[in-house]
Amino acid sequence: QADVFTYDPGFTSTASCDSTITFIDGDKGELWYRGYPIEQLADKSNYLEVCYLLLYGELPSAEQMKDFELRVTRHTMVHEQMHNFFRGFRRDAHPMATLVGVVGAMSAFYHDSTDVADPEQREIASIRLIAKLPTIAAMAYKYSIGQPFVYPRNDLDYAANFLHMCFAVPAEPYKVDPALARAMDRIFTLHADHEQNASTSTVRLAGSSGANPFACIAAGIACLWGPAHGGANQACLEMLREIGTVDRIPEYIAKAKDKDDPFRLMGFGHRVYKNFDPRAKVMKESADEVLELLGIHNNPTLQVAKELEKIALEDEYFVSKKLYPNVDFYSGIILEAMGFPTSMFTPIFALSRTVGWISQWKEMIADPQNKIGRPRQLYVGSERRDYQDIAKR
Ligand code: SDX
Repeated sequence: QADVFTYDPGFTSTASCDSTITFIDGDKGELWYRGYPIEQLADKSNYLEVCYLLLYGELPSAEQMKDFELRVTRHTMVHEQMHNFFRGFRRDAHPMATLVGVVGAMSAFYHDSTDVADPEQREIASIRLIAKLPTIAAMAYKYSIGQPFVYPRNDLDYAANFLHMCFAVPAEPYKVDPALARAMDRIFTLHADHEQNASTSTVRLAGSSGANPFACIAAGIACLWGPAHGGANQACLEMLREIGTVDRIPEYIAKAKDKDDPFRLMGFGHRVYKNFDPRAKVMKESADEVLELLGIHNNPTLQVAKELEKIALEDEYFVSKKLYPNVDFYSGIILEAMGFPTSMFTPIFALSRTVGWISQWKEMIADPQNKIGRPRQLYVGSERRDYQDIAKR
């Protein structure tokens, strides 16, 4: 067993690697992107500026921001032939299935940005992914509801453009509410990166083999889909809807505490945070603002969520295990109020997280110590034994 523990698995690309991108203090409930607290960025910055910060390490000057914005908006359309690609999916396919497929297929359409050894190609692939993920996610939504694709509009900002591509229809004019676009943009920022979570480790591991960036991001999207990870926002809203009224909360709290019951409170708990997830606090304030704006502040799902949070945070089980609401607890309430079906919640998480995955992938590629990730296992199976013919078994 000794050699397994002393074996150097080339872990720089996956587990316990140094990084300058995101800092999390799970005990204090702190999250910084390149040193800037998430609360300040959510309040004062915008998603595209946060993309620049995560990609290049510094907040941009006005001129740098203008150039970056132009580079992104010039790549928001997808190759027209990709429209046919969507038609290969069943209408009722989950948009995450479409997203995994179409993003992975980008390497078949954008050959000139797949060589990871070429810094120029790495840069253009990064810009293309940030620019096209909202377009592809919106197309996945439109396809699932049988409506025509809406082309991106470069006169709109990043979040407004996404809302427009999702909710505009050719039959009538659609004007994006700036307050909703601001709330959407804030949700993108809150999800942009989060250190070495499961999907980011997946992207780093895929990237450590030299796979092209589109394939690596598709791998990250696939991992994010799980209900224990990015799929929790959809699972959480479905749980809040199932609870339905505050008088049914104790029944679900009891289920969540029952060791023999696999039920978990969706949107609660975290591998790292043993205090409030700072993103959940901002999300909760945003939920109040958006529902007030839409005139549905007495939304029953929000009432159940707030009462559930209150009861759980006073319950010995949750207090002793340091289980707090995480980023997924309130996000679904906002997205549902905006008009998204629950199936679009995780695709929105994925498009937000794309810049984090790319930043982490670029950092790993640039690390001279990077080797292909090759975790080992401690073998505890059968001793060596010889094959037996079937007649003798
Ligand atoms: C995300 O890693 C990231 O950063 C991810 C993410 C990101 O931005 O990338 O933050 C996004 O994935 C947030 C998490 C979303 N998932 C959910 O909300 C699903 C519900 N939560 C869980 O299933 C759970 O909390 C995990 C998976 C998130 C963490 O599980 P762990 O590692 O078991 O948590 P833990 O070690 O802190 O658990 C301590 C105890 C355990 O019980 P014991 O073994 O001690 O008896 O608390 C229990 C857990 O079983 N527990 C829960 C619970 N979460 C943990 N019990 C009831 N309900 C819960 N939600």
